[in-house]
Amino acid sequence: MKKLMAANWKMYKLAAEAGATASALAGKLDGRLPRDREVLVIPPFTALAATAKALAGQPGFSLGGQNFYPSKQGAFTGEIAPEMLLDAGCRYALAGHSERRHILGEDDVLVGRKTAFGLTCGLSMILCVGEKVEERQAGQVEAVLTRQLAAGLADVPADVSPDALAIAYEPVWAIGTGLTAGPAEVAEAHRVVRAFLVERFRPGGAKIRILYGGSVKPGNAGELLGIDNVDGVLVGGASLEAESFAAIVTA
Ligand code: PGA
Repeated sequence: MKKLMAANWKMYKLAAEAGATASALAGKLDGRLPRDREVLVIPPFTALAATAKALAGQPGFSLGGQNFYPSKQGAFTGEIAPEMLLDAGCRYALAGHSERRHILGEDDVLVGRKTAFGLTCGLSMILCVGEKVEERQAGQVEAVLTRQLAAGLADVPADVSPDALAIAYEPVWAIGTGLTAGPAEVAEAHRVVRAFLVERFRPGGAKIRILYGGSVKPGNAGELLGIDNVDGVLVGGASLEAESFAAIVTA
């Protein structure tokens, strides 16, 4: 399976800026995208169309949505449905990003509903998990990851295709802070996630990709990607500029 190199643009970029960054990224990676890597761009909803247009026909690139509400359609003011993301050209969507858990108040149960519902709609889901700094200090990393994985994957069928599901390990204290988990911390967390996946999705769990996220930069991406069970990265700040994200993709 290719390594998944994901750019999470969060609540940044107007449509024109997103289109320009996506075009610049495609230009920089033209003929230079390593064969074992796949690029995923996850812009805000209002920039999906412009980003899709800029990436149209670019092999190795796909588009994702940052969030959706787990219902086909309905009276959910301010929300967006999985089918709308698919209609906008998305193949992937995130669930359980720490900013949605900790700023927008999403709990494990809602994250689990999103993950399962997105899959039934045909999206490939990236379930994000990760501990807060106080949980790490209290020695609870494994317990937190196991709880978030159990709830987040509760209704995912045991025979889910490894193409349709990825996990992103993003320690909350490393997101947007400039602090990156050290290689031993990343290796240990990814080992915990892998063990859970193998147990839960036998035998496909060995193939489900586990991404690392949290202050990934051109200077640390190569080392992170060399760690066992790191099958890609989910990048926020350093993905906003085509040049730095292209450097990460080729690291
Ligand atoms: P960061 O964000 O790279 O800015 O730390 C990562 C993420 O939130 O996915």
